[in-house]
Order: sequence, then C-alpha cells, then structure tokens
Amino acid sequence: MIDQLGDLLGQLNALRARAIAELEPITTSSELDEWDTRYLGRNRGELKALSSVMPKLSKEERPVVGQKINAVKAALERELAAKREALHQRELTQALEQERIDVTLPGRALPEGHMHPISRIIQDVTKIFVEMGFHAVQGLEVETDYYNFQALNIPADHPARDMQDTFWVNPGQILLRTHTSPMQVRTMKQMRPPVRVVVPGKVYRNEAVDATHEAMFHQIEGLLVDEFCTMADLKGCLERFAQELFGEGRRVRFRGSYFPFTEPSAEVDIDCPLCNGEGCRICKYTGWLEILGSGMVHPKLLREVGYDPTKYRGFAFGMGVERIAMLKYGIGEIRLFSGNDLRFLRQF
Ligand code: DAH
Repeated sequence: MIDQLGDLLGQLNALRARAIAELEPITTSSELDEWDTRYLGRNRGELKALSSVMPKLSKEERPVVGQKINAVKAALERELAAKREALHQRELTQALEQERIDVTLPGRALPEGHMHPISRIIQDVTKIFVEMGFHAVQGLEVETDYYNFQALNIPADHPARDMQDTFWVNPGQILLRTHTSPMQVRTMKQMRPPVRVVVPGKVYRNEAVDATHEAMFHQIEGLLVDEFCTMADLKGCLERFAQELFGEGRRVRFRGSYFPFTEPSAEVDIDCPLCNGEGCRICKYTGWLEILGSGMVHPKLLREVGYDPTKYRGFAFGMGVERIAMLKYGIGEIRLFSGNDLRFLRQF
C-alpha cells in the first residue's frame, strides 16, 4: 500500500513537472486552452484521470492523495493564470506596436473644389453692383416673344431681330431668351421707381459655335430708373465697375451705338488691362476692349410699363459674362468654359 501511495504521489509530481514544462513554450491562447483541457479538463484532464483512483484508496491514504491533488491543481491553475496574463500582455504590446500611429507623417490631402470661373465672374460683378445699391434678381430662361422682343421696342419685322437667332419653343410666341433684357420690362412692371437691379443668368442663341460664340452663355443686365438720372450717372457707374473688376485706374470709353431699347445707346470699352492700352493680341492692337452695351432707357419702354417718361429716366447695360472672363483671364476659346475639363478649370 505504501508503495502504491508513493507511486501515486510520484505520478502527481511528475504530472506537475511535465505540465509546467509544457506550459513554458506556449505562445498563443489557443495552445493555452488546449493545455488547460489536457491537464485540468473536468472530463478527460490528466489530473482528473489520476483522481479516479481515489475510491480505491484506504481511509488513511485518501486525505494524503486528496491534498496532493489539490496542491497540484492549485499550482497548475496558478501557472495557467500567470501564463494567460503574460500572453495577454504580449499580444497587447504587439498590437500597440503594429497599430502605432506615426503622427509625424504628412496628412492625406483632400481634393478641394472651387467655383467655376463663370460663376466667379457672376459673383464678383454682382457684388460690385450690390455694393452700389443694386439688387440682384433672376429672370426666366423661357420667355415670351413679348418680353424678349416687342416690349423692348423690337417689333416682329424689326431688323434688330436679325441680330439674334432665336431658339423657338413655340414659333412666334415662346422662346429661350436671347438676352437678359426682358427682365428690364418685367422688373419695371413689378415696381415703382427708384429701380436698381442687376440680372445675371443664362441666355441662348441659335448660332454657329466657334471660338467666341456658344449657343448658351451668360449675361448680366443692369437697370436703374429714377427721377434724376443722366448719362453721366451711367458713365460714373460703369467706370467704377470697370475699375473694381479690372483694376484701379482703368479708363472707360463710350462709343455711340444702336439698341432698340435705349436712346441714346453706347458701346463701352475699357483700356486693355493686359497691355495697359499699349496694344496686344487680346485687344487686337487697338488698346481698347469692348465690355458691354448700354444706354438711356428708351421712353417707349417707360411708357410700356406705365412710368411717366417726363418724370422718370433710366439707364441700362448688358454684358456677356464669358466675354468678360475671356478678357480678364486672357482666354481665346469660349468653349473651354462649358467643357468641364479639369486641366482648364484647375487654373482658376
Ligand atoms: N441685350 C443686349 C444684347 O444682348 C445687350 C444690351 C445692350 C443690354 C444695351 C442693355 C443695353 O441693357 O442697354 O446684345
């Protein structure tokens, strides 16, 4: 019996030594789980297997073996817990090492968009006039023959209609507006003087497309009507505008012209900002650039909207936004603006 007891205790010591030796090289928690099952498993663990002899032992032997089993079990559980903690620490350190953030690396640049050059010009021009006391309003792109032509003193058989090839929605009645001027009449019909509006927007012309003509482009219309309003006011206003947009010191030149809705009418030039009036490719060596059409509102228009032409006077002007942009940036090809080519647009 003594031998059997000594043998059993020897086996338990050996088991403990083997288990601890096997624990040493373990590096993963799944291996550790296997080890746990192998030695401490409730069903088929080796310790459990050795405990199964207990019923066969004598009353004296049982507590001795029992104590030994408990001591081995406690020792192995201690080792297991220590190993788990060590593995956990190691995995944590590894994770921290791998996921380390190098805060000194340069950040990833987010591509940044910006306004289209045409929108930019519209915004800049509008702002200049708003600061002078004008309101910005929007018109309709689909207009009637009345507002686009008739009310602007352009009757059906008027030769001025030849200047504008029209996209008709409903021939003779509904059209895509060929200019922003219809808003002169619409605005005046809606309010009493003083009137001060600028109207940016899209206009359409059925034209052969080339480097300086597109079927859709943008205009900005201006209209001022008041009791005291002269051509000197028009001139001062446009001079201020030209200097704000194209640079201080810009000079403005008025050339007599003809528009059915203004009398007198003038085409307005600025001295070329690219060569300072010296003469270059952009100004075709004239030193001057035409930037807009203008004039004093024709009394027929005032009468048409119910204003008394002996009491009120007004001035009006209209400019092509693409043209202004081309002059300002020295661009020779209008189609670039509608092309959506980022190589072009990124330059602004
Ligand atoms: N509507 C004209 C055009 O499209 C431009 C224009 C000229 C507008 C003279 C005006 C003006 O208001 O007074 O060609």
